Amino acid sequence: MSQPLLSLVDTDPAELAVDAIVIGLHSQPDDGGALLPAAGAESIAAAFDGKLTSTLALLGASGAPGEVTKLATLGTIAAPLIVAVGLGDEPSGSAPQPEKLRRGTGAAVRALAGSATVALALPLPDDEDAPGVLRAILEGALLGGYKFAGYKTKPQPTRREPVSALQVHVPDAADEAARAEVTRAEVVARSVRQARDWVNMPPNELRPPSFAEAVVAAGEQAGLAVEVLDFDELKAGGYGGIVAVGQGSEALPRLVKLTYTPAGVTDPKRVALVGKGITFDTGGISIKPAAGMWEMKSDMAGAAAVGAAMLAVAALKPGVAVSGYLAMAENMPSGSAYRPGDVITMFNGKRVEIYNTDAEGRLVLGDAIARACQDGTDYVLEASTLTGGQVVALGKRIAGLMGSDAAIELVRAAGDKVGEPAWPMPMPEEVRKGMESDIADISQTNSNLDRAGHMLQGGVFLSEFVADGVEWAHVDIAGPGYHSGEASGYLTKGGTGVPIRTFLQAIDDLA
Ligand code: BES
Ligand code: ZN
Ligand code: MN
Repeated sequence: MSQPLLSLVDTDPAELAVDAIVIGLHSQPDDGGALLPAAGAESIAAAFDGKLTSTLALLGASGAPGEVTKLATLGTIAAPLIVAVGLGDEPSGSAPQPEKLRRGTGAAVRALAGSATVALALPLPDDEDAPGVLRAILEGALLGGYKFAGYKTKPQPTRREPVSALQVHVPDAADEAARAEVTRAEVVARSVRQARDWVNMPPNELRPPSFAEAVVAAGEQAGLAVEVLDFDELKAGGYGGIVAVGQGSEALPRLVKLTYTPAGVTDPKRVALVGKGITFDTGGISIKPAAGMWEMKSDMAGAAAVGAAMLAVAALKPGVAVSGYLAMAENMPSGSAYRPGDVITMFNGKRVEIYNTDAEGRLVLGDAIARACQDGTDYVLEASTLTGGQVVALGKRIAGLMGSDAAIELVRAAGDKVGEPAWPMPMPEEVRKGMESDIADISQTNSNLDRAGHMLQGGVFLSEFVADGVEWAHVDIAGPGYHSGEASGYLTKGGTGVPIRTFLQAIDDLA
């Protein structure tokens, strides 16, 4: 699905002839929760002759974050409809935190499905924070309006089409910095939407060979160098982890590498993005329970994020060399599937004793990480829906973060900036001790299949495949990669695109 056209306007919002206009609404806790129109809505409030907030209050508005209240304007301003989005308590500075605006804008634009043209008159500070706040507004608008096209055979009579044109009110529509934010937001949102599409596709439509084809086609179109290893090449190349996990499916595994090389930069920093691409995780021979298994179509969210982030990198052209590695396999039980008890040889030569075929992610990732290190890199940033333990420990919005100190700090800071929080987790010595194998170099999980420190085992295992001197981060997105509930803020049902914006921010921070 194509995304809405985005433009900047600096005409008076009250005069804009659009189908609907979005304004912000605060509550003032020091004033009994009285409503306050957010900055940007001044001329609209004036047109209502002092009755804007009382009318919105009458309609039930409270200014709570994410709340959406619609008001017909009956000729007071040019647009026939106002959508007031709650932005929470009156901010101490000139604009609310970017993430509040990102969420509020997302909710507003989604609520406006059915309106063709929508203008946003939201608070922008007039200091050096302005580009960051504008970025949040633009991203929220483009991401909140995402809708997966789906597979319905008949057009739905009740379906309201997503907003097709967005005008964003700024003080000066010709301002270079503001225009650069529009260009960037279009690239970033296209990337996140692509990742969401891949995650939302049903697992019969997206299996390793077709996923690889889709990524290759998109990568080539974006001007990236592309390499694909098929099953025979993976076997011949010694990728024992990807081969073991993928061999149980008739749709055989793939490793896709996408490469971006910056022009005119001598000796650039090198970053490898690595993603888990299990197109469906049944658990394999250690099969999962039936309930909720369908959501394991999202077990390729890490690879989707890496592939889509590479498309954005190709367009944003940072001064950093970036490669993406997507380890794709379908984890199936069958006569050719790998088994508990197997010993496999990974790409870096280490032998692993398998205890549970459902801990498959670390096997495909171990190979991909080792390959990235062999190619030569300064950083490995890896994303995976790796453990249920991440969801138990940190929930659906905060990713688990493990790795080397410098990379953890890089990813944590980047995630904070973009509204994709990730929380550092330890990699204790005793967890590694619990993974000693009698017959191999390491066991895949704790040998008593003890779930204690379950998320940590994943990170500890992956550390075995990182070459010395490489800064690395493992981002466990089991929760944040997929939004199971109803849409909220700029998150729509299904794939989220996390941690694409973190990766792009981290790359910017390294450049
Ligand atoms: N893909 C799952 C992890 C997962 C669970 C992602 C829930 C998203 C939501 C992963 O492959 C898995 O099955 N992990 C096992 C590991 C265990 C066998 C050591 C788990 O979490 O139970
Ligand atoms: Zn999995
Ligand atoms: Mn699994």
